[in-house]
Amino acid sequence: MKTEERGPLSGLVTVKADWDTPAVIILDQTELPNREVYVRLTTPEALWKAIYHLKVRGAPAIGVAVAYGVAVCMRPFADAPFADFFRHFVELKKYLATSRPTAVNLFTALDRMEKCILQHRDLPTPEIVICLQRESEAIRAEDAGACRRIGAWGLGLLTPGMGLLTHCNAGHLAVSEYGTALAPIYLGQERGYQFRVFADETRPLLQGARLTAYELQKAGVDVTLICDNMASVVMKKGWVQAVLVGCDRVAANGDVANKIGTSGVAVLARYYGIPFYVLGPTSTVDLACPRGEEIVIEERKPEEITEKWYARRMAPAGIHVYNPAFDVTSHELVSAIITERGIAYPPYAETLPGLVRSR
Ligand code: MRU
Repeated sequence: MKTEERGPLSGLVTVKADWDTPAVIILDQTELPNREVYVRLTTPEALWKAIYHLKVRGAPAIGVAVAYGVAVCMRPFADAPFADFFRHFVELKKYLATSRPTAVNLFTALDRMEKCILQHRDLPTPEIVICLQRESEAIRAEDAGACRRIGAWGLGLLTPGMGLLTHCNAGHLAVSEYGTALAPIYLGQERGYQFRVFADETRPLLQGARLTAYELQKAGVDVTLICDNMASVVMKKGWVQAVLVGCDRVAANGDVANKIGTSGVAVLARYYGIPFYVLGPTSTVDLACPRGEEIVIEERKPEEITEKWYARRMAPAGIHVYNPAFDVTSHELVSAIITERGIAYPPYAETLPGLVRSR
């Protein structure tokens, strides 16, 4: 498979950089599905807010946006002595790291940019800035290549005509292109597999309804939107032969942090005897994290549940709200973890390190 091949949504750019008038350009996902609006981000604060408010979201896309963001935000310091340049980078890194805590790609991208600076510390700072640009483009290109390969590995587990269920959005909009959980669906679409996809709407922020339904429909895939609490029904009816989901962080034992509600889908899949596949690049596997309990789970504002999508409030003022953005699916419920390097099967503590270290 050629890496220059482009996915079915190649006209839709999730995140890119403009190096001439330096800016990170993102497709504002909070405007979807109604409007395709591109936004230019030129300051650390604008980037932080775009990540926090999910204008750019999905673990790999956050990593790419942050890498571009570092290259863009370090440009004003291009003429500074190295010590000042590095001090500004350390402040920037610390600040951006507070935007969202769960997706490991944010942190690996920041670490990679730091490593790039330190590796080139003997060069004049304007040249270090060019190295940062190249590194950020490399992170994007690696992500795109990884997604294509994840698609190919994933498709090998599926057969034409299958019913598939997915949760949240782990598609083109969550990565640099193509997707992780949705990659086999797009590849299957190109090869005439005729999958029937069920997209959970994914309360409370509706990534399934707003984003997955949007991008699959735009690509011509047969997609049906369901509320999260309908997954059991479509499974019971025999309409689902496999579940495909993405991941924000995979612990060394195979526990998977992903969008809130994922673990419930996994429990249902086990009950109905349906394989539950997790798809993500090896950069999302965090071998330094032994088990899911160690993963920091982001908690978000109550208003996302009580009023955000409604014309008027839908819960009493002052009600206690618990709004975790992610949950952890036990490795025991995961049938396989599909990466760009191949497929890991249980026991993950033994199979994942081999795949990750072959990176
Ligand atoms: O809060 P979000 O929309 O960033 O959550 C995204 C997910 O949970 C995705 O499934 C995950 O990041 C994988 S994206 C390829």
